[in-house]
Amino acid sequence: MCGIVGYIGGKDACEILVQGLKQLEYRGYDSAGIALLVDNHIHVAKTPGKVSKLEEQLDDSLSANSGIGHTRWATHGEPNTVNAHPHIDCSGDIAIIHNGIIENYAALKTKLISMGHQFKSQTDTEVLAHLVEEFRSQGHSLDIAVRLALKEVDGTFGIVAMSASEPDVLVAARRGSPLVIGLGDSENLVASDASALVKHTREVIYLHDNEIAVLTKKNVSLKNLDDEIVLREAEHITFDVEQIEKGGFPHFMLKEIYEQPDTVLNAMRGRLLHDEGISKMGGLSEVEDKIVDARRFVITACGTSWHAALVGKHVIEQCARIPVEVDYASEFRYRNPILLRDDIVWTVSQSGETADTLAALREAKSKGASAFGIVNVVGSTIARESDAGVYIHAGPEIGVASTKAFTSQLVVLNLISLLVARRKGVLSLEQGREIVGEMLQLPDKLSRIFDNLDAIEEIADEFKDSRNFLYLGRGVNFPVALEGALKLKEISYIHAEGYPAAEMKHGPIALIDRDMPAAFIAMRDSTYDKILSNIQEVRARKGRVIAITNGADDRLRELAEFTIEIPRTIEILSPILSVVPLQLLAYFIAVKRGCNVDQPRNLAKSVTVE
Ligand code: G6P
Repeated sequence: MCGIVGYIGGKDACEILVQGLKQLEYRGYDSAGIALLVDNHIHVAKTPGKVSKLEEQLDDSLSANSGIGHTRWATHGEPNTVNAHPHIDCSGDIAIIHNGIIENYAALKTKLISMGHQFKSQTDTEVLAHLVEEFRSQGHSLDIAVRLALKEVDGTFGIVAMSASEPDVLVAARRGSPLVIGLGDSENLVASDASALVKHTREVIYLHDNEIAVLTKKNVSLKNLDDEIVLREAEHITFDVEQIEKGGFPHFMLKEIYEQPDTVLNAMRGRLLHDEGISKMGGLSEVEDKIVDARRFVITACGTSWHAALVGKHVIEQCARIPVEVDYASEFRYRNPILLRDDIVWTVSQSGETADTLAALREAKSKGASAFGIVNVVGSTIARESDAGVYIHAGPEIGVASTKAFTSQLVVLNLISLLVARRKGVLSLEQGREIVGEMLQLPDKLSRIFDNLDAIEEIADEFKDSRNFLYLGRGVNFPVALEGALKLKEISYIHAEGYPAAEMKHGPIALIDRDMPAAFIAMRDSTYDKILSNIQEVRARKGRVIAITNGADDRLRELAEFTIEIPRTIEILSPILSVVPLQLLAYFIAVKRGCNVDQPRNLAKSVTVE
């Protein structure tokens, strides 16, 4: 989840790298560093903290046309200057940046030390610099030395290496950590994410696992780690840099919350057939029969995507009457899961790069199951390795706390549910049409939620100093409670728990007093009367109640201190609306507490380590 960028060409490498790193900071940001080729020497600058701090330290007079830069999210060694990347070898000839984990680094380090290499950092990455140095000292060129070094490595990597004695090349390689090459005019770039490249080029080549690329100013060549030539056409990327800038909002998170009427529409665009009351998704067309005939779905995911999967379970079981199991990807992969023939494993991931989710996908495939993806980032590893899948088309999500991806994931899970339910005949044409009609109204209903902004900000003001928060819901609203609590803890650092409202009396009720606000997702659905009883239980203990509802009656108005009204829709779609006030509440509380909303401490957007 570190950010990587490399440049070789005729322009000011320093400026291009710093700009690229700023674009990548959301991937990890506890330290930053850069290596430039200046007068045939490697010049390194690095610092703990953010790229802006690195920028302050850079000498304006440095003139370089090639270099590499890195933003780090620490895995081995604390985030200080020494552990920041790039790492260099003993001679100072080689510089290397790395995203991933070298699992056998301790053994390699011991071996290299016994051979006379001197280490400066606690990182796993530094072994790569010395290993490459070792092969260089045997007379190999940089690309061959990198290839031979990587053959000795267990674990994951996206790396870029440069050498002062081979000033005309950069060498990049990947296994498990994404890298994309940008093809320019007499310049070439490489980055962990296309967002760092789009200012310079839209022609890109995605590196696959176990591939190595040699970049010169005029040329890019690819091989695999077995030294076989790889030929791959360049792809044209369509999103542009404005899309990934804040667009006038103070934070990416707020911008992304506001984008939801559009992103929800994009997720269903061209996929709903109103007359037939059904959905169609190009990415699933060839496997539709398999999906419809499945005996069971297993959905695996992490974080917010896992919450989306829990909503999906409810929706699919209610509508399509297929049993659904939801598992944390990290648990699924390690418990030797039982997969039956006719099971379908779905992986849900915004980034398409989450290590545990990817491993769960591979585990499912290795057991012979069909594994399908629900992914946002086009061309990501999970998207490529899935047997089939659906993109959610939410566009780049920069805020670390996921918002728009969640609602788009819910749309796609509903599309899948509708497809199966109608094809299986458990939903009538009439019912199918009703769902399609309701889905098409979602963008407009989402827009109307923003009319409540002042009321939500007022609640944020009231509770910004709370130390704990409870989020409660029943049925399909329970995962929404989990997601509301996750949003709050991620960005405001307030302890928050999501609980099934009826389960509260088996423990959390002991915590309730005037200092424990409880946010209820109290929709006018099959659970409404029950949730009113739960609210009463909280009120009886002097708890303060915030209710998110789509139709307050007098009973609710009397019980809740604060009420946020959202438009009404059918039960299975209501999480797409009810989560939005919770996203906004977390956002306003975090801003009022002075927290860094887009880059909360200790978190990363794309968690590519276990
Ligand atoms: C990280 C992010 C979360 C995200 C989770 C899963 O923890 O901070 O926002 O929900 O990873 O990521 P994915 O990209 O697989 O959906």
